[in-house]
Amino acid sequence: MRIIGTGSARPSLVVTNAMLENFLDTSDEWIVTRTGIHERRVISSERLEDLAATACRNAMENAGVTPDQIDYIICSNVVNEYVTPGLGCVIQGMIGATCPTMDINCACTGFIYALDVAEAFLATKDIRNILIICAEEPTRMMNWKDRSSCILFGDAAGAVVATKGDDLKAIRVSTHCKVEALYQKRKLQPTPFVRKEEEDGGVVMNGQDVFKLAVSSSIKDIDKVLTMAGITPDDISLYLLHQANVRIIEAIQHFVQQDKSKFPVNLSKYGNTSSASIPALMDDLNRGNQLKTGELLLLSAFGAGFTTGACVLRWSK
Ligand code: ACO
Repeated sequence: MRIIGTGSARPSLVVTNAMLENFLDTSDEWIVTRTGIHERRVISSERLEDLAATACRNAMENAGVTPDQIDYIICSNVVNEYVTPGLGCVIQGMIGATCPTMDINCACTGFIYALDVAEAFLATKDIRNILIICAEEPTRMMNWKDRSSCILFGDAAGAVVATKGDDLKAIRVSTHCKVEALYQKRKLQPTPFVRKEEEDGGVVMNGQDVFKLAVSSSIKDIDKVLTMAGITPDDISLYLLHQANVRIIEAIQHFVQQDKSKFPVNLSKYGNTSSASIPALMDDLNRGNQLKTGELLLLSAFGAGFTTGACVLRWSK
């Protein structure tokens, strides 16, 4: 595959750490020191599908393709207002595409999983352009009384257009069933037949377990994809890591022993936006002319599941 266009969109409401202090027993100092997050964008009046459609239109415009030239849409999403149909179906109509659409839920690793699927489709199917849209509103999954989790997240949409090419040098995805580290359950509609107890509420997260899993699995993934691509950490120009916590990024940076300047960070402004975090970061860098043709990028993410994934991608847009 080859990425030929990027796009993103974020909600307008900026929620600073100081605003959280108004209703949570927390402080700007605690949040910044433990996470690196200063503020996040939070959905208020917008709908997630509007953000997603904007990100898709921006990516198509950047790629120079029209909706009728999109042959497949892969939508990565954890929650939105529709249980069914999949969010991708809603987005397809909004952007005026007519191609098949598929939703995946691989939590924060969704973009890497979507790239893996797109690579396989582009190699084996008679299709040219795939639109990958990662649209997430994790702030709607939180218990806003739980100070250890709600401070971490923000909402966003990030999209790319991928076409046939030879830029994906190595990719690896994996799943290790560790549901208890991070999950959210919801009550379904009652029926005359259901007798079991059901759980409802916001995200339940063991932050320290997630932290350790994130660092250990990312290090393993990065090591493997570098070996698969036959390169060393020095050969990578930029490490586009899932924007969850700056301390996780620093731990990975320490492992690969590369300069801090190779690790772009935007979580201070946006928080953790789940699977949208890497494509939205990629779009920021692309539009800021910080991605240079021919350079190698390493992408790495982790999320609920526990899902993890990484890839080495040459930038040739
Ligand atoms: N403000 C003030 N105090 C807080 C807050 C807060 N927002 N949250 C927790 N505390 C308190 C705790 O109650 C605890 O107090 P105690 O010592 O009196 O018991 C103390 O701060 C330390 O809490 P820890 O949980 O040990 O803090 P830690 O340094 O581990 O940081 C954090 C917590 C930020 C959640 C960290 O563990 C982390 O980032 N984990 C990874 C989380 C993550 O990335 N999740 C998403 C990944 S998957 C995906 O992206 C969907």
